[in-house]
Amino acid sequence: MSMTLITYYTQTGNTQQIAEAIYEALGGKKEIKPVDEVTDVKNYSLIFVGFPVHSHSVPYKMETFLKQLPSRKKIALFSTHGSLTGSRLSREALEHATVLASKAKILGTFSCQGKVSPEALEILSKSPEHKAWTEMAASARRHPDEKDRKSAQNFARWVLTLSSQK
Ligand SMILES: Cc1cc2nc3c(=O)[nH]c(=O)nc-3n(C[C@H](O)[C@H](O)[C@H](O)COP(=O)(O)O)c2cc1C
Repeated sequence: MSMTLITYYTQTGNTQQIAEAIYEALGGKKEIKPVDEVTDVKNYSLIFVGFPVHSHSVPYKMETFLKQLPSRKKIALFSTHGSLTGSRLSREALEHATVLASKAKILGTFSCQGKVSPEALEILSKSPEHKAWTEMAASARRHPDEKDRKSAQNFARWVLTLSSQK
């Protein structure tokens, strides 16, 4: 049986929006669950794993999940972040995630910007650790948008095709 899981961690809903767009785009048997609710991954032939970038990295809950993925499990990673898409600051968390999940078979990665609440931004921008990405985060305020959701859906369909080929 071939079943796809879309699982995510979110604090303010951006990553969940992308997860839901991916879920809608995929044909076949599928489930969507917050990472807290995933107990066993053995029934899934493909897993999409999504998280927000936190302090240049992967939130702790997702780190734990990625590390325990079984060898050769087919997965795809997606993230949302305040920094500009493609910037080093947005890429480094995905790179870390690929290292954490290095036993798994990573079929692709996707990322887009996600808005940060003005209150959080105000506080975070005062700390030196967060200065670099918070300077870019104004441009995230309308994201994820329709274009981001469509790109995530195209990415997801492509990953599903890849997963059925290999
Ligand atoms: C505590 C905290 C730390 C963050 N650290 C980063 C960061 O290092 N780099 C970045 O690009 N965005 C960072 N962000 C922005 C979030 O990644 C972004 O807003 C994301 O879309 C939130 O996703 P969510 O709504 O699914 O929680 C941070 C946000 C918070 C609240």
